[in-house]
Amino acid sequence: MKLLLKIWRQKNAEDKGGIVEYPVDNVSPDMSFLEMLDVLNQDLIEKGEEPVAFDHDCREGICGTCSLYINGRAHGPDTRITVCQLHMRSFNDGDTIYIEPWRAEAFPVIKDLVVDRSAFDRIQQAGGFISVNTSGNTQDANAIPIEKENADKAFDAATCIGCGACVATCKNSSAMLFVSAKVSQFALLPQGQVEAHDRVLNMVKQMDEEGFGNCTNTGACEVECPKGISLENIARMNREFIAASIKG
Ligand code: SF4
Ligand code: FES
Repeated sequence: MKLLLKIWRQKNAEDKGGIVEYPVDNVSPDMSFLEMLDVLNQDLIEKGEEPVAFDHDCREGICGTCSLYINGRAHGPDTRITVCQLHMRSFNDGDTIYIEPWRAEAFPVIKDLVVDRSAFDRIQQAGGFISVNTSGNTQDANAIPIEKENADKAFDAATCIGCGACVATCKNSSAMLFVSAKVSQFALLPQGQVEAHDRVLNMVKQMDEEGFGNCTNTGACEVECPKGISLENIARMNREFIAASIKG
């Protein structure tokens, strides 16, 4: 395949940055999107040019680091997958592909396509711990009965990989889908009840301090989330937040 890549290049956080064109003509439809970028970078290195910086780790949809805006969509044109799971057969020979970093004030660009998502880490840290006995008498997980429906919903919420596509795709740069998934994965389980009120209050406070926007129920986050995290979680987080606020 021959493609024209239009890639956001930015030397550092202070640099203004801009789109640079890279024609490529040795792309196999069976390559993953990241492998295609690897090939481009190999060519750039051989020409003595600076390779394109982009984030990646697991390359199998688990770690959430491969965060790119491709042709105006978070994680590219396919649904329910991350960039590392996207293959070049999803594009046509001769296509022009725009590749940009996440755009959100709370995710500043560090270099090229790499953004600083440590705001998510700080929100998770604000959530704290859960109280379980780990002092040698740990209970068997099956000793605590949990309704199947709640177990399923908690598991679904826990599949959030913290990629940030929800923020990048939201017109308000809201982090509500991410935070609500992290709140819900504990709020639905008995193990998460002891610190439930502090958890939701602290996580929402940290989310606001990080500069994320508010949720206006457009639902773009759910559409573009590679894990299909449901908007139901935002409703649950709002209920948890109100209940915790009333209790003080
Ligand atoms: S809710 Fe979805 S889009 Fe947002 S961080 Fe989690 S996995 Fe990524
Ligand atoms: S590299 Fe880990 S999810 Fe894509």
